[in-house]
Amino acid sequence: MTNKGQDVTETYNAQGYAAVRQVIPPEVAAVFLSITQKAMGDTRESQARFNSAAQPLNKPAYDVYSYDYPAAMTLLWGLTPFMEGATGKALLPTYSFFRVYPKGGVCKVHSDRPSCEHSMSLTLGSSDGLIWPFAIGRRRLTDDDLGDRARGIEPDFGKDEYSTVNMKPGDAVLYQGVHYRHGRLDPNPNRWSAHIFLHWIDRNGPYKDHAFDKRALPGAAEFRF
Ligand SMILES: [Fe+2]
Repeated sequence: MTNKGQDVTETYNAQGYAAVRQVIPPEVAAVFLSITQKAMGDTRESQARFNSAAQPLNKPAYDVYSYDYPAAMTLLWGLTPFMEGATGKALLPTYSFFRVYPKGGVCKVHSDRPSCEHSMSLTLGSSDGLIWPFAIGRRRLTDDDLGDRARGIEPDFGKDEYSTVNMKPGDAVLYQGVHYRHGRLDPNPNRWSAHIFLHWIDRNGPYKDHAFDKRALPGAAEFRF
């Protein structure tokens, strides 16, 4: 696994991803996870309000989006300077989401929409502490491939070669989610596994219109005394 610094940027731009240890301290990952779980509630019924059947999933996960959860938005915004340093690009945030996968969950091989041009998958914690690899293809998708994204969800990489990254709480993989297919091929061995996915676009790049995920923003602040 790569450490922080110049080699991260070179690796990220050469192979479309880079693994980084302790993007946030494991203690922060653990407390972020606890705070988020408490906000979702303690009962199954309360947590099941966040059920998601997103397309690449084989079974429902729990998803909490930054649109509804300011802590997820703030972490995304706060990690922007780090991500700019790691990618060597000037970025703006798009959106982030927290996800808990159930036991046996997989994330089928897919590529992402334009708001995920520069992305981070950050591991927060799991019930059992068992490593669950993130997989990413070695082939950069062509423009023709991108046009077929909606049909591109597959159980594996087919004949394409791929790499895997193992992460502990606080560790992350930075990846170019639009141009490199990725997923988690093996069933989650933990009773649950929690992650946050953070997304940015190049503020000078082809997807710059996706800043803030094209959401309507509030007007300028005003204060009165
Ligand atoms: Fe993705």
